[in-house]
Amino acid sequence: MCGIVGYVGENQAAPILLDGLYKLEYRGYDSAGIAVYGEDGIKVVKARGRLKVLDEMTHGGEMLPGTMGIGHTRWATHGAPNDTNAHPHFNKDESIVVVHNGIIENYLKLKKKLESKGYEFCSDTDTEVVAHLLDYYYDGNPLTAISKIMHRVEGSYALGILFKDHPGEVYAVRKDSPLIVGRAKGGNLIASDVPAVLKYTRSVYFIDNEEIAKLTRDTITFYNIDEEPLQKTPTEIAWDITAAEKGGYEYFMLKEIYEQPKAIADTLNPRIKDGRIVIEELKMSDDEMRQIRKIFIVACGSAYHTGVTSKYVFEGLARIPVEVDLASEFRYRSPILDEQTLVIIISQSGETADSLAALRLAKSQGVRTLGIVNVVGSSIAREADNVIYTWAGPEIAVATTKAYSTQLIAEYLLALKFAQVRGTVTDEEMEGYIRELKMIPDQVELTLGNKEKIQKFANRYLAAKDIFFIGRGIDYAISMEGSLKLKEISYIHSDAYAAGELKHGTISLIEEGTLVTAVLTQEELYKKTMSNMVEVRSRGAFVMAVTNTGNQEVEKTADFVIYIPQTNKYFTNSLAIIPLQLFGYYVALGRGCDVDKPRNLAKSVTVE
Ligand code: M6R
Repeated sequence: MCGIVGYVGENQAAPILLDGLYKLEYRGYDSAGIAVYGEDGIKVVKARGRLKVLDEMTHGGEMLPGTMGIGHTRWATHGAPNDTNAHPHFNKDESIVVVHNGIIENYLKLKKKLESKGYEFCSDTDTEVVAHLLDYYYDGNPLTAISKIMHRVEGSYALGILFKDHPGEVYAVRKDSPLIVGRAKGGNLIASDVPAVLKYTRSVYFIDNEEIAKLTRDTITFYNIDEEPLQKTPTEIAWDITAAEKGGYEYFMLKEIYEQPKAIADTLNPRIKDGRIVIEELKMSDDEMRQIRKIFIVACGSAYHTGVTSKYVFEGLARIPVEVDLASEFRYRSPILDEQTLVIIISQSGETADSLAALRLAKSQGVRTLGIVNVVGSSIAREADNVIYTWAGPEIAVATTKAYSTQLIAEYLLALKFAQVRGTVTDEEMEGYIRELKMIPDQVELTLGNKEKIQKFANRYLAAKDIFFIGRGIDYAISMEGSLKLKEISYIHSDAYAAGELKHGTISLIEEGTLVTAVLTQEELYKKTMSNMVEVRSRGAFVMAVTNTGNQEVEKTADFVIYIPQTNKYFTNSLAIIPLQLFGYYVALGRGCDVDKPRNLAKSVTVE
């Protein structure tokens, strides 16, 4: 989704804005622009396409002198991706300029009203309404104008604003779209996400909903919607700048695939103490955990897939019934919730609009909520009653890998914690689970050793039309994620099927040479899935299998086999997903796709 940066300080703003926008490229965009306040007033340059175009147009920012400005990468919602619709947007006399992330839901009504007062619009965006509305309310005091528009505008917004009358001041405000403020030496910054400011500072403020920030070179002041000053404490970001850089890898996705052993260990190790699961941030007493009768796991995309796996893990280990929901469905389906329900929201970004809405729905019904979140200080992390952080570090590639893997770990830990408290596993069993959990980082490392074999195999499928994934139980959940990894970055059509469902319709899709990837990590289901492999193979399919070491039997029915180390049946997803991530990556690479920034996708889906 859109990315925002802003700077006011002692250095030239444009190169800092461009640099920040490059760090936000992962969010997905189709046009970009910057506004810089220099000696001749506010100058705006914007262009459709990649940031490189804007970079070249402004000679790396040199053509726009001035030490304050705002910048934007736009992911089109209202109006086509073109130069006119790109942000920033001016008011009529070019004295107020705005960048925006989010959706102004009542923009048509506001536009009509403004047009009736003589305002003229030149773009198709909802954002332009904000520029004119600010103009309408502006009487010399930026804070008052901002506060007034906050009362009028419905929807979600993060805004960066400059006023010509107020040189040396950058304003920012947010509601339901992320925005942070960085306090740096010699200048201050705003941004949609931390990587954009890491080069300059690790001291960051998270702007809360309906808060306004006013930045000058040396000061940062926060206000509420009533223009009353607020005290806020900065958070020190623990990542260093290299965590958000490629470090010699061709793509962030491959780097992040390789970071998985460490990310898993960072998420796991601090939560195992003296042979027990200790989740310090969990603010639920043992009694409260015992009272839970039902869990809803709610998430989107890959995070949802980890939830599908966790249903088996929670139900198997802690014997609690679990429903897994897509957040976009949950929020509109009147779920039956009560005080014995726990709603778990899983989100890497902590800003996904549907997941956030689902969290709010659960909270509004007085239900206990728990977020499993990667981005510290994000909306879901702040609003959930409890939060368990996944310590994956910054994930830049749109296709998630290490965040997915750490979500699984957090969910295993939580399921085991419930099992521990509710006495559904013996001490001896717990010892075994913990021993196996601790082996996962090394086993992932070992599985990554299949890289070349997988790349070679992937290169045979660069022209495939369809690729299917099949499995049963947890293997079906793994298949769903394997299929998503492949299709989102390679643009090859792919679907995952519960293997037992093939005969009920989907087997008719199999043609001579179709690749079917079968996942077989659940011993009690081996034979069943193998029968399905035989069925597709006898209809011409080529079968790739991912299975546990020792299951040599599978070679009789598969044409290509990747073995993963032996682990507990509940944890196999953590290993089996590795070859599927690599497969998707190498197919996309071989097809010349922009692996980190697949078309039409955004890293953080902050609009509905
Ligand atoms: O930030 P979130 O975890 O809430 O994002 C949810 C999905 O958009 C996300 O998992 C998406 O499916 C992945 N980028 C796919 O690789």
